[in-house]
Amino acid sequence: MGNARIVGSGSFLPEKIVSNEELAATLNSKGIKTSDEWIIQRTGICQRHLAENLTTSYMAGEAAKLALLDADIKSSELDMIIVATSTPDNVFPSTACLVQANIQAYSASAFDIQAACSGFVYALSVANSFISSGFAKNIMVIGSEIFSRIIDWNDRKTCVLFGDGAGAFVLSESGDLHSGILSVDLQANGDYSSILSVGSHFNNSAIVGDPFIRMDGQAVFKQAINFLEISARNICKKSNFPLESIDWFVPHQANIRIMNALGHKLGIPNDKFIITVDKHANTSAASIPLAFDYARKDGRIKERDVVLMQGVGGGFTCGSILAVV
Ligand SMILES: CC(C)(COP(=O)(O)OP(=O)(O)OC[C@H]1O[C@@H](n2cnc3c(N)ncnc32)[C@H](O)[C@@H]1OP(=O)(O)O)[C@@H](O)C(=O)NCCC(=O)NCCS
Repeated sequence: MGNARIVGSGSFLPEKIVSNEELAATLNSKGIKTSDEWIIQRTGICQRHLAENLTTSYMAGEAAKLALLDADIKSSELDMIIVATSTPDNVFPSTACLVQANIQAYSASAFDIQAACSGFVYALSVANSFISSGFAKNIMVIGSEIFSRIIDWNDRKTCVLFGDGAGAFVLSESGDLHSGILSVDLQANGDYSSILSVGSHFNNSAIVGDPFIRMDGQAVFKQAINFLEISARNICKKSNFPLESIDWFVPHQANIRIMNALGHKLGIPNDKFIITVDKHANTSAASIPLAFDYARKDGRIKERDVVLMQGVGGGFTCGSILAVV
C-alpha cells in the first residue's frame, strides 16, 4: 500500500487559439472596449485555446490516453476514473463514464467531482484516499473544462479570463509513506458563494436563472490569495514540511498577479512558480494538471521533486496537495 504517486500525466489543448489582439478586435467591433495591454497587465493572459465543437469528455479522453502512455499502463489496469469538471457534456451520465467507454477501461468505476476551479485538487485527494486505504491500485484523475460555453462573450470583466482544455494524472500505489502524496488540505466557505457563480439550473426543459459566469473580480482576487496562503501554511504544518523546501509551486492558473501576491506573502521567489496562465488562460479544473504536465515535459519538474499543487475558486473552495513526484 502507501500513498498515491503520480506515475503519468497528459494534456489536451484544442487547436483553436485566440490571442488577446483577436479577442479585443472582436469585442471592440461590438463597442466593448478592451485591449491586449489591459488583459496582459491585469491578468498575465496572452491567449486562450477554445474547444469550438469538441466536448469535455473527448478532451478528457485525449488527455487520459497520453497519461496512460506516459505511465506505461493499460486502460484495463485502471480501477477508477474521476473527472473534475463544472462543464460536463451532460447532467448525467457523468463525463467519467463517457471517458471510461472511450478508453475502454471497463474494470474502472467512474464518477465526476464538481468543486469549480478547486476540482482537480479535490479529485486528487479522493483518489489518494482510495489508494492509501487499499481500495484501488491505479486511478485516472482528469480535469477537463469548456468554460467558453458558460462565458458571456459580451461581458469584458469575465470573457477575457478563461480558456478550454484538459489534463490528466495516473495515480498508483507508491509503496511507502514518504513518496507520492504526502498531505492534503481542503477548504470551503459557502458564505462566499455569490462572488463567483453560474446561478442557473434546468427546470422542465428551460434554463432558469443566469446561464453565464458572474464574478466580483476584486472580491475573488482578495479571497483567492487569502485562501491559498492559509491552505499552503496549513499543509506544511500538517506534514511538518518546511515551505521553503518545496521545489515547485503549481497553483491554479487564474491570474499572474494572484500568483505573484501569493509568492510575496509566503516569501517564495517567483521562479519557483510554474506559470501557464499566459498560454492557457484560466481553464478551471484543468489548469493544475495542464501546468504540471507542461513543466514535467519541459524538464523542470523531475522525479523526487516536492510539488505543492493548489486549487481555488467558486464555492468558495480551496485545496492543496503536497506530493513527492
Ligand atoms: C478580473 C480582474 C482581472 C479585474 O482586474 P482589476 O484590477 O480588479 O480591475 P477592476 O475590476 O478594478 O476594474 C478596473 C477597470 O477596468 C475595467 N475593465 C474590466 N474588465 C476589462 C477589460 N477586459 N478590458 C478593459 N477594461 C476592463 C473595469 O470596468 C474598471 O473600469 P472603471 O474603473 O471605469 O470602473 C481581477 O479582479 C481578477 O483577476 N480577479 C480574480 C479573477 C479570478 O481569478 N477569477 C477566477 C478565480 S477561479
